[in-house]
Formats: sequence, structure tokens, C-alpha cells
Amino acid sequence: AMIDKGNHRHFMAKEIYEQPVVVAQTLRSYLRRMENQVALPDMDFDLAGVRRITIVACGTSYYAGLIAKYWFETFARVPVDIDVASEFRYRDPVLEPGGLALFISQSGETADTLAALRHARAERQIIAVVVNVPTSSMAREADLLLPTHAGPEIGVASTKAFTCQLAVLAALAANLARVKGRLSPEEEAEIVYHLSEAPAAMNDALSHDEEIEAMAHLIAPARDVLYLGRGQDYPMALEGALKLKEISYIHAEGYAAGEMKHGPIALIDDAVPVIVIAPSGPLFEKTVSNMQEVQARGGKVVLISDAEGIAAAGDGCMATIEMPRVHPLIVPLVYAVPVQLLAYHVAVAKGTDVDQPRNLAKSVTVE
Ligand code: G6P
Repeated sequence: AMIDKGNHRHFMAKEIYEQPVVVAQTLRSYLRRMENQVALPDMDFDLAGVRRITIVACGTSYYAGLIAKYWFETFARVPVDIDVASEFRYRDPVLEPGGLALFISQSGETADTLAALRHARAERQIIAVVVNVPTSSMAREADLLLPTHAGPEIGVASTKAFTCQLAVLAALAANLARVKGRLSPEEEAEIVYHLSEAPAAMNDALSHDEEIEAMAHLIAPARDVLYLGRGQDYPMALEGALKLKEISYIHAEGYAAGEMKHGPIALIDDAVPVIVIAPSGPLFEKTVSNMQEVQARGGKVVLISDAEGIAAAGDGCMATIEMPRVHPLIVPLVYAVPVQLLAYHVAVAKGTDVDQPRNLAKSVTVE
């Protein structure tokens, strides 16, 4: 079928806007709403017996894996090792037979990830694959195939595939927690409820598009941009920085908020915008205190938080972006939206080729 941009200027914008629909579509095959349960495709191995997970991916898919690591560890208490594919292959990782090796890929064809999958297979791992192209090499080689239903993604910088990966990974984490006896039916029902709310919350996030477009000129002149977050918001900071550098060519770095004092704080002055990802919750105060260290050095902060967080800490900020208050499990799905929109509008303001950024390929099938 012909794929066009609809009313959007770029595929990337179209794909950002599609997210509530494709995430809902993806969740439909992983949630049983009536039974209040998460559900996975049939598998011919014992998920409850999995004692270790090794996640391997590249690029944005790798950041989805980093977020999922928090979920597998907090909900299921299963230890997770994670690496980018190009490193994993050559470090001779310790893989005990019967471990679960989880590969995440939009295309299912990324050469490094595919080679890592084959290495894991040779090391007698169970191969699980979260993939958007159901006919891809990775899909064919999986023991457990976990499709995302994002539909074709055309923009080189991944957006909707990422949030659909997160939806699948959240369902997998909840399922693993249940079979490990770490999730009561009530807790599982709560997770199903909150995941089902994600598309509406993502729509709410999209409603801030014009505001974000208006603040793009604050970021566009910068040479460097820093993204800060803690816990599962740290990988989101990494993804934010990746999106910005991919399409706007501005140098950007994602950093764990608490690690900033060990280096990047030396970069801070009024020419380095700092994007702080800090939803309300147990880590909020800590991240805000790092944000204040930035402000004390003249740093210009864009705070992405909910109404409560913005009321508590938004005052000295150059700009704020208000997200709905959501359950921690769906925070990454929702906060991905402003992070993507910000990169998108900065790139449009700079006039770069948003859908086909220089030097980048949609699918990297060479090592
Ligand atoms: C390329 C794309 C990225 C993508 C990465 C991994 O670098 O430009 O957007 O995240 O490959 O691709 P995959 O298809 O394996 O998810």
C-alpha cells in the first residue's frame, strides 16, 4: 500500500501523531481487558524458569531495552544484563544455558543485532524478539516472537516503533512478574488498567505540540544540549539526546541527573540548554536538586514534568512542558512524546532534512 504523510509535513510528525493509535493497537494483542490480565503468545519454554535476561539492541531500540531493564528488575526481580549489539558480540559475554536473550529491533534486520542473536542461539539462550517487521530475519529466528504493531515506520529517526516496543516490554515484564509469583491479581489488574490509559495520556501529551513548537527557537541556536533524568527517566534522557542529534545535528548528551556533578556540570553556562525529565514521584526531589545546581550556574532549563512537579519546581525555568500525571510504568510512553516533538521542531526550525538525516540509514544492515 502507498504510504503518505497525510496532513503532516514530514513522516516523522505523522508517526509521532500515530502513537496513541498504534500503541493501543499493540496493547490489544498483549492485554486481556475482560480478564484484567496481560497475555503473551504461546511459548514452548517455561518462562517462570528464566533466571536471567540479556537484552541486546541498537539505537533507539537499545534505549527501550534500558527502560525495560528497570521493569524486569523491579516487577519480576529478574536480573538483566544489557548491551548494544556491536559491543555484545565481541566481549564474550557470560551466558548460562537456558537464559532468556531478548532482542529489540524495529526492522528486524540490523546486522549487529542479528549477529548477536545468532551468537546467543549458539550459546543456548532462549531467543525472544520484539520486532516491528513480522517477516524480518529476527522474527523468523525467534523462539518467542513479540510483534509491535506500529505499522511501517518511514522516518529514519524511530518514534512510534519505540513507544510500541515499550508497550510490549511492559506487558512482558508484568507477565514475567506474574509467573514469578511477584504480582497479585489486583496488581496485575492495576497494570492492565494503567497500560490501557496510555493512549489517552499520549494524546494529552500531543496537545502540547504548539507550545513545544514555540519553544524550539530557544534550543535551535544552541551548540550543545544536555538531557537529564534519573531511574527510568535516564534512558529517556539518552533517547531525547539521540533524537536531537540525529535530526537537528546539535550535539546533545543524555546524563544520569546525579552523575552530572562528575563532569558535565563543567559545561554549564547560559548557552547550554538543559532538558530535565522529572515526573512527580520518589526521585523527583533528587532530580530537582540537580536541576537547581544547573540553574545556580546560569543554565537554562526546560522542565518536563506534571502539574504538581511544575508547581513545585518550575519557577526558575526557561520553559516547562506539562505532562499528565500517570503511573510510573507508562511515564516513558507519555514522556517520549514531548521529547520527540522537541527534537522535531528544533530540526524543522533549523531546516534540516528531518525524514532523511545526513549519514543515517533507517536500517543498518552492515556491521
Ligand atoms: C538506525 C536507525 C535508528 C534505529 C537503529 C536500530 O540507526 O536510524 O532509528 O533505532 O538503527 O534499528 P532497529 O531496526 O534494529 O531498531
